[in-house]
Amino acid sequence: MNQQTKYGEVAARIRAAYAGTPIAPIRPQLTDLDVDAAYAIQQENTAYWETEGRRLVGSKIGLTSRAVQKQLGVDRPDFGVLFADMIVAEDEPVAVGRVLQPKIESFETLATSATRHEGVLRLCSHISGEVQEHAYWGSARDRIPSAQTDPLAPSGKVEFEVSGPVTARRIRVRSHGNVCVIRSGQDWSDSAGRERELYLQKMEPVLRRGMDFLRDGDPAVTGCYSCRYADVLDASARPLDKRFGLAWFRSLHDLERWSESHPTHLAIFNTFMEMVQELNGQLTTQFYHEVSVLAASEQRLEYLNCHPSTGLLRLQTERG
Ligand code: HEM
Repeated sequence: MNQQTKYGEVAARIRAAYAGTPIAPIRPQLTDLDVDAAYAIQQENTAYWETEGRRLVGSKIGLTSRAVQKQLGVDRPDFGVLFADMIVAEDEPVAVGRVLQPKIESFETLATSATRHEGVLRLCSHISGEVQEHAYWGSARDRIPSAQTDPLAPSGKVEFEVSGPVTARRIRVRSHGNVCVIRSGQDWSDSAGRERELYLQKMEPVLRRGMDFLRDGDPAVTGCYSCRYADVLDASARPLDKRFGLAWFRSLHDLERWSESHPTHLAIFNTFMEMVQELNGQLTTQFYHEVSVLAASEQRLEYLNCHPSTGLLRLQTERG
């Protein structure tokens, strides 16, 4: 196979990944891959997308800091292209995947169901069976690959950059490293009879109390920057039998502290255990969570004309 054909093949696989098909890392399959080859592959895709009608509007230069170059073992900046469809216009919704982009090394997810999945698990072609790293406090940390060699301590503090007139305030958040985000979801669509009654009358109110506590508590004490307990809606905005809590913590340590020791999560945990016991372990209600530890560069937060208690803005208000 000549070199150009090989680059063409790799470029096509990268396009498939953009379209949502996971691909194996390309590096090991290209023994002769160097920086020039990488740019040749990028150029192949740029040309392809231009023939598909995408309009080139600019370039992006990355790795300009010598310190970051050193950290990643490279000796020069890198370049990418920007297409017109990457621009987000005023008031246009932004997909959540463009806001949070955790590295897989700093991510873990756990689900009670082997088949019925939500969130990131829907992208996986298969999942493992029961893991050993669960059912003890500290197990979430043990499931995060980067936590094996890095304490994932928080660095810096959250800062705000305010612009625009009072009627259309734009606030950009400069967050810090190792912020920890958890999405903890529940799906009781398949439950019926006693199980449904137990979930809705016993479990759910206890969970709601925990979510309210994190939402309303003082972030300086709880370590929780923001907590939202959200209903999942269908395409016609009707609530499904699914909810999730989405909470931002200063660090993995702060999340662990709440889950291991605060009466609200201990009540959630105990109520769950009572439910499991009464139903002899036969549950159709599904539980899952996704925990991400994010570098500052993996978070993009911007608030336009929002209520001062929205998300992380609450930190600004509390500081006065
Ligand atoms: C009905 C909802 C919930 C139930 C039934 C539940 C139950 C549990 C259970 C059984 C565990 C131990 C899991 C294991 O490792 O095997 C656990 C751990 C954990 N839960 Fe929850 N939980 C719920 C909601 C939440 C929420 C909303 C949050 C955070 C906002 C949360 C945060 C955590 C964390 C971080 C751990 C791992 C702690 C560690 O590894 O030390 N949970 N929960």
